[in-house]
Amino acid sequence: MSLLNKQVLLAQRPTGKIKPSDFNIVETNVPVLANNEVLVKVAHISLDPAMRGWMNAGTTYIRGVEIGEVMRAFAAGIVTASNHPDFKEGDTVAGTMGAQTYAVMQGKHLTKVDATKVPLSWYVGILGMPGMTAYFGLLEKGFPKEGETLLVSGAAGMVGSLVGQIAKIKGLKVIGIAGGKEKCDSLITDYGFDAAIDYKNTDNIAKAIRAAAPNGIDIYFDNVGGEILDAALLNLANHARVVVCGAISQYNEATHSGLKNYMKIISARGTLSGIIVLDYFNRAEECITQLAQWLAAGKIKYKEHTEQGLDRFAEILNMLFTGENKGKLVLKV
Ligand SMILES: NC(=O)c1ccc[n+]([C@@H]2O[C@H](COP(=O)([O-])OP(=O)(O)OC[C@H]3O[C@@H](n4cnc5c(N)ncnc54)[C@H](OP(=O)(O)O)[C@@H]3O)[C@@H](O)[C@H]2O)c1
Repeated sequence: MSLLNKQVLLAQRPTGKIKPSDFNIVETNVPVLANNEVLVKVAHISLDPAMRGWMNAGTTYIRGVEIGEVMRAFAAGIVTASNHPDFKEGDTVAGTMGAQTYAVMQGKHLTKVDATKVPLSWYVGILGMPGMTAYFGLLEKGFPKEGETLLVSGAAGMVGSLVGQIAKIKGLKVIGIAGGKEKCDSLITDYGFDAAIDYKNTDNIAKAIRAAAPNGIDIYFDNVGGEILDAALLNLANHARVVVCGAISQYNEATHSGLKNYMKIISARGTLSGIIVLDYFNRAEECITQLAQWLAAGKIKYKEHTEQGLDRFAEILNMLFTGENKGKLVLKV
């Protein structure tokens, strides 16, 4: 008897916010495995802000998902059948498996992961792509030094909360920007940040940053873009580094306004550099080893926000844009 696979297909390209009608949820039969293919029962799907960009036409750092194609998604799961010598039934694996209940994968596109000491879902979060983004983004682009001051936006989210905590380990003063009192309180009490700015209840973000960092910001780790990026630029200390990681405030917008305060980069002798985490995938092991050590030692905390139901894919994905997610957003299949 053949297995049924529930799949989330891209139905149309969104304009503005993602809508349920942008996806088709279908059921298909799982095909017979060819040589070197592995069948994975998908267990945890990573919901990432980048998915909004992947729904657009054309290619940026990666090609857009085609209409009718399974929505691209990082995921972790369990091997249920294998025609590949390196994988056997019961192996726990991670990879770009797509938003579906079963994935037929080329063995070379899967990574075996050890889910005996940490939950399997962590491999789509702190020990997966987003964890690497925070780790390499801060260390390889931000060049943190003890005693410096770091500002991070999207601070209560997956990447932001980890950036701030790694910066604390490295001896920096850390200021986070997040939406709402609950998230801002958790930056201080759960993640050990030094100060928090609630951008949803602050009239003048630039002034709030100045109050928290009177001597300026040495590193700004930007997850949101837009007005918050502009406000951060006004507060750069000399030789500041701006790490442009994400721009979630812009992803649903058809046109993107330019930076107003970019000349501050000249007077501060600053640098502004983008990061794409894919460039660091070949160094995954060093990152996972270090993050696992910090987690085991209680030096970093990790929160997951789990939702269930492939049928609710659009609704759950939208939580990233409304800020309803409290921690790494994971869809449990
Ligand atoms: N460059 C790369 O390779 C790479 C890789 C992974 C992720 N990223 C980027 O990193 C950023 C964070 O990703 P994540 O997975 O950690 O997501 P996340 O921070 O866990 O979730 C997204 C958060 O963004 C905030 N947000 C939404 N709309 C906003 C707006 N208009 N203005 C300000 N904040 C807004 C919300 O928090 P509030 O409640 O605080 O508003 C929301 O909870 C994203 O921009 C993502 O694209 C980049």
